Amino acid sequence: MVGLAELDRLGSDLAALVPPVPDTGTVAHAQARSGARIEVAGVSHWFRVGSGALQVLDQVDLTVAPGEFVALLGPSGCGKSTLLRLVAGLEPASAGTIAQDGQPITRPDPSRIVVFQDPTLFPWRTVFDNVALGLQARGLLPAQRSRVDDALRLVGLTEFAKSFPHQLSGGMAQRVALARALVNDPQLLVLDEPLGKLDSLTRIAMQSELVKLWQRAGFSALLVTHDVEEALFLANRVMVLSDRPARIVAELKVELPYPRHRGDPQLAALRHEALRHLGLDATW
Ligand SMILES: Nc1ncnc2c1ncn2[C@@H]1O[C@H](COP(=O)(O)OP(=O)(O)OP(=O)(O)O)[C@@H](O)[C@H]1O
Ligand SMILES: [Mg+2]
Repeated sequence: MVGLAELDRLGSDLAALVPPVPDTGTVAHAQARSGARIEVAGVSHWFRVGSGALQVLDQVDLTVAPGEFVALLGPSGCGKSTLLRLVAGLEPASAGTIAQDGQPITRPDPSRIVVFQDPTLFPWRTVFDNVALGLQARGLLPAQRSRVDDALRLVGLTEFAKSFPHQLSGGMAQRVALARALVNDPQLLVLDEPLGKLDSLTRIAMQSELVKLWQRAGFSALLVTHDVEEALFLANRVMVLSDRPARIVAELKVELPYPRHRGDPQLAALRHEALRHLGLDATW
């Protein structure tokens, strides 16, 4: 098992890897391999700041169909990460409901895994041991070591299983974080600018990898990105959010097959539309 000292150091993004109270009735234990259905209905959220309240989300309605890839685009500070945290169950919404396959989301759950911009790997653990963390925390590692090997193979890091994080490039570290998510067989992968810190070439390569991983594994995906092209390259639907408090101002359906071609004229038209909704089309 993971040691107590190590558990203390788990960041909030890793909280979902630690088992909640055993309860065979929850989705955590469902063995369904298909993606989750997520329904966000009338969600508003406020933070207490000093003696006042800061409204961050305003009546957000959003559905992610099983196996669907949905991207959220919006201005910095509008409330995107907050919405992801609520969907992940890391905190409760001030108003409205969020459900997974009809069950209210009230806490983190291993069926929903979050990958943040910063891969937050444990420097004292090898690549293999970082990826194995979730299985180890749930006592499943002895029986399921091959899943770690499979996840490392999926992200092309088999040869680096014994390396430590400081021996990896930024793109490789982010792939370890993806493998750590995938090994838990998520039904929903929540991605908060997972490629944001990568150089543009690695980023383009990782976008293609992400599409392949999603198609192979069949999970639902909810991605936040600042990059309009990235959203259109990856997602079935792109939701555009307003300034804080975030409201949904547009929904763009990207009805193009995968793999997509970046030069596709339909993507260029959708890009223009997205930028228009963001108020950024004047220079385009
Ligand atoms: N725990 C918190 N307490 C108080 N205010 C918060 C808290 N978390 C976020 N905020 C505020 O909520 C707003 C939305 O933050 P959030 O991180 O959701 O934005 P974002 O859309 O993800 O921005 P970015 O694109 O820059 O990552 C910001 O004004 C932020 O200061
Ligand atoms: Mg954010």
